[in-house]
Parts: sequence; C-alpha cells; structure tokens
Amino acid sequence: MKKILVINGPNINMLGIRETEIYGEKSYMKLLVYIENAGEEIGVEIQQFQSNCEGAIIDRIQQAYGKTDGIVINPAAYTHTSIAIPDALKAVGIPAVEVHLSDINNREDYRKLSYTSEACIATIMGKGFEGYKEAIKILAE
Ligand code: DQA
Repeated sequence: MKKILVINGPNINMLGIRETEIYGEKSYMKLLVYIENAGEEIGVEIQQFQSNCEGAIIDRIQQAYGKTDGIVINPAAYTHTSIAIPDALKAVGIPAVEVHLSDINNREDYRKLSYTSEACIATIMGKGFEGYKEAIKILAE
C-alpha cells in the first residue's frame, strides 16, 4: 500500500475559527478525519503533519526520504515566501502535489506567486477539503 504524507502549514490548525468567509466553518479536526477517510477510500496509508514553523516542515519532508511515496502539501503562507520548502521537496525527490483551500489566484496579488509549485507535479486550489482528496488520488496513480 502506498504511503502518502499530508503536510499542512501555519494557521491551517485554526480552520473553523480563522477567516471563515474564506476558509469555511469546518475545523482542522474535521479536515484530519476527511483526509483519513479519503485515504481509506482511495486505498493508501495516510500520515498527517501540521506545523506553524518552516523549519519543522522542512525536517518532516527530510524525514520522509525513502519512506514515503507521495507528499500532499499546503504550505499556507510559506507558499509565497519559502524557497527552503521547495528545495526540501526537490532534495528528497518524492512526488508532491500542492493544495490550497482557497483560490490563491483570485485573492491578493502577493498570493499569486507560489515558490512551492515548481517542486510539485500538480497544484489544486479553491476546492476546499476536496482538493486534498484530489491530490491523494493523483499521487495514488
Ligand atoms: C492557503 C492560502 C495561503 O495564501 C494562506 O496564507 C493560507 C492558506 C489556502 O489553503 O488557501 O494560510 O494556503
């Protein structure tokens, strides 16, 4: 069975509280359960990780080297600032799919640039929780 690691960046643990008009009313706990169920349905083993710290996200990507078949990553605000995260994805060479709950192309201009994209085989945005399931499906194939 394929192993998929799902990584969520800063403030994703505040889902249901933060800017509900953008990110919706459902909590991070609900997202964890949704992703777990999606993995079961698709037939992959899911591991999940969330951190507000860039370095911790990089450490987790490095730990996945040789142990994980795919990475689903929502780097949140680090999408637009971090070069170290795509560097880490390239370093481990694990296929990765980038996910955003909101449509970052239809928000503030500073969200339009994603450094993460260049290290990912696909980017899914604006589909809420469903985006994670789509990303898992892509990596399961
Ligand atoms: C986000 C979009 C980012 O611009 C933002 O900083 C987030 C969440 C999304 O899932 O839509 O924290 O990655």
